[in-house]
Amino acid sequence: MPLLIACLSVSLSVILFTRPTECRSNIMKTDFIQAMFEEYDSSLSPNFESNESTKVNMSLYVNSIDSISEQSMDFTINAFIEQEWCDPRLIFYGMIMDEYFELDSKFMVRVWVPDLYFTNEKRANFHVVTVPNKMLHLYNNGCIKYRLRVSLTASCPMNLQKYPMDSQRCSLYLQSFAYTRKTIDFVWKSIKPVVASKTMELPQFTLVNVNTRNSCDENIGGPDFTCIQVDFNLKRNTGFYMIQIYIPTIMIVLLSWVSFWLSIDAVPARISLGILTVLTMTTQKGAAISSLPRVSYVKAIDVWMAVCLAFVFAALLEFAIVNVMQRRQQKFADPSSFVNSSNKNEEEKQNSNNRRLSSGKRDAQRVDNVSRVRRTLGTVDHLIPSFEQALGRVAYIKDVRNPAMVQIPPYLQAYKYKLANTDHTFL
Ligand SMILES: *[C@@H]1O[C@H](CO)[C@@H](O)[C@H](O)[C@H]1NC(C)=O
Ligand SMILES: *[C@@H]1O[C@H](CO)[C@@H](O)[C@H](O)[C@H]1NC(C)=O
Repeated sequence: MPLLIACLSVSLSVILFTRPTECRSNIMKTDFIQAMFEEYDSSLSPNFESNESTKVNMSLYVNSIDSISEQSMDFTINAFIEQEWCDPRLIFYGMIMDEYFELDSKFMVRVWVPDLYFTNEKRANFHVVTVPNKMLHLYNNGCIKYRLRVSLTASCPMNLQKYPMDSQRCSLYLQSFAYTRKTIDFVWKSIKPVVASKTMELPQFTLVNVNTRNSCDENIGGPDFTCIQVDFNLKRNTGFYMIQIYIPTIMIVLLSWVSFWLSIDAVPARISLGILTVLTMTTQKGAAISSLPRVSYVKAIDVWMAVCLAFVFAALLEFAIVNVMQRRQQKFADPSSFVNSSNKNEEEKQNSNNRRLSSGKRDAQRVDNVSRVRRTLGTVDHLIPSFEQALGRVAYIKDVRNPAMVQIPPYLQAYKYKLANTDHTFL
């Protein structure tokens, strides 16, 4: 026992005054570390005596980026934060053989740590299952490696003008709360400052890259306070929007065009088709932007939805026009409107009425044809006869040279009968 006390007093004096050479093997680590922290004041920064600032090397290991919310404009990240700095008061090189001490989380409160905080944090929490998720290694040269695991939600202002074809940059600002640059200086570690887990999977985004900077876009504390920044550049995956929005809306627009091929007299069918597609479009529009904040600018999805709605609405309007055109002619054609001109020949009147009726219907049908992009391009109608002619020509040539060779491909079987009656004189 006296030996131990002697050794301890030697070691204490050693800590305070000189480097030891003897008695090393006899010192117990427990006593040593207790003695070392006896004199240590964790409420004072490492360089309290000198005017040199403490450099803190920062690094981040991103476990996962859990959610990126447009509604609340924030993102949640789960990460290990590692800080490395040197505290000259804790040098024990040459006194103990160990390269470093692994301190328990209960012991860590006795060590000074940087007052790191996240400027744009909304919520954050440490993980304490089963013990506080913290690690502190004290090296014999007085340097400390301090790692902790946090989940934090940080604000990420987003510009949604190109939504859903947008890319977002979500940043994290790391700053010292109370110490100015005179005391603490944060820097990103020179090698691999931010590492993202390889298994990380974001449902809606792809992490394009990560940038670190030893300065901040906006330094809340002012230039006197150290602030470093990490940017996560994220690109939105459009797969979800293709399946949930783009393809369904395209199909609704196509569905509204079916109306052009229906008879003009099929009023209930064409009206219900038009109304239904307009209503579905409105519902789709509501669903598409339900997860977005009510921003006042126009987003890409708004433009898409507006164009689709315009198409569907135009299809409904087209039927209204067609219907009115047809009915106007019918009204003129109605014999009751010709009551006063009874001295006309009854048969002649009926004929002219019929002509008007048919011309009215023809006008209406022409509008339908234009809607089908048939008359306007003039392709389909001319294509079929010229196709038949060409077919006839080929058949005729083959027919002349070798009648046995006349082969009509299966997809042209429908024309077989026509071919037989084709006038071949044009050759
Ligand atoms: C630190 O102190 C030394 C001398 O006391 C002085 O020359 C130097 O400018 C000081 N540095 C800072 C950053 O204040
Ligand atoms: C911090 O990083 C610098 C440069 O990479 C390095 O020289 C220094 O030793 C590091 N400090 C600690 C405590 O690791």
